[in-house]
Amino acid sequence: MSLSQIASSIPASPTVALNEEARLLREKGEPVIHLGIGEPKNKTPMSAILSSAARLSSGDVKYVPTDGTPSLKKAIVRYTEENYDRVVAPLNIIVSDGAKHSLWNVLFTLCNPQDEVIVLAPYWVSYPEMIRMIGAIPVIVTPEDGTFVPTFEEIERVVGSYTKAIIVNSPNNPSGVVYPDELIAKIVALCESRGLYMICDDIYHKLVFDGRQAPPAYKYTDQDVENSRVIVVNGVAKLYGMTGFRIGWVVAPRKMVEIMTNVQSQTTTCVSPVMQAAAEGALTGMQSVVESLRLTIQNSRDVLMQELRSFTDVKCAKPEGTFYALPDFRAYCRNSVAKNSVDLSQFLLKKALVVTVPGKEFGMEGHLRLSYAGPLKNVTEGVERMKWALDPNAPSELYIGDRKLVRDWL
Ligand SMILES: Cc1ncc(COP(=O)(O)O)c(C=O)c1O
Repeated sequence: MSLSQIASSIPASPTVALNEEARLLREKGEPVIHLGIGEPKNKTPMSAILSSAARLSSGDVKYVPTDGTPSLKKAIVRYTEENYDRVVAPLNIIVSDGAKHSLWNVLFTLCNPQDEVIVLAPYWVSYPEMIRMIGAIPVIVTPEDGTFVPTFEEIERVVGSYTKAIIVNSPNNPSGVVYPDELIAKIVALCESRGLYMICDDIYHKLVFDGRQAPPAYKYTDQDVENSRVIVVNGVAKLYGMTGFRIGWVVAPRKMVEIMTNVQSQTTTCVSPVMQAAAEGALTGMQSVVESLRLTIQNSRDVLMQELRSFTDVKCAKPEGTFYALPDFRAYCRNSVAKNSVDLSQFLLKKALVVTVPGKEFGMEGHLRLSYAGPLKNVTEGVERMKWALDPNAPSELYIGDRKLVRDWL
């Protein structure tokens, strides 16, 4: 078979593949604990259900404008004003099938083949692959000091004549880090002075803990949205627990939105009006759902940190946002059990039935991404199982239901 080289070189998203693996194991009756999951457990907000149900029962489910229904765009205009302190017009907004699709549209619209896009490690798994898919080149910046926050100098150093954009995801998946305000301000200034675009993936922007905030990049520029180098990507998946509705959006200069709309008109035509109605319901309904999710997740973060503290030789930077942590398991990647994070993750799935995501996928070998978005019991039981499998100081016997497991490999 003669297939596209680019398409053939793109691996499956490891997080999506892990979800499938966990689902199949559960289907077989295996008591899997999924700490790899990238979605909160809360139910869809009632306002979203009602508004999508109203649209559906109207029977009027046809093609709608490619860039989004006028009423959802109006809700996004208001959301941007309230949360970003920016006045934008509907013509600055395009709605797509999830923030992932929005990011793809942005990258495809900005980049020529061979252009470079700077990605800050640890990074969300899909950025490098999406960049490659459109023929551009991902340039990864890994913090040299072993933290999860690259310095401004490290970023500035890789800017060259082919650099088109920098993707900034804060709060960050997978580390949970919120980049310091000063770093955001400096990246905005760098993009303005060097004519680069700053693509802000703000999908977790309200899931920030301990009274902190993740300031929007707009805060650090006087340019209006038409002239700004800041492009905002956001959506309803994470804040409202609406991952299955597949609604994301971009706020950008009109010209860029116009081109993205042309691209979308040739690829997906438009986003389902039923799903757009749901997103509108979420954005215009009671916002206390987001705050209550944030508080629940913050509590789960605290419990996870507590559990990890008693795990011999595991270090974990305290997440400041999102629902992920990226503990350092390098001490467990140097023996017969595992040589790297991929081995370790597979070992944990096989022996302890716990799903984790290898740090390698995020550009942080030796780490494992743990999600605490699920039930609290999963966090405590998941870490207990991991300790049993790896930590010689943990009891060598473990009960999963009435199944007794005995560790005989340490
Ligand atoms: C950093 C980041 N950006 C974008 C997305 C995609 O969001 P959506 O489900 O709206 O496509 C995810 C999902 O995991 C994410 O973690």
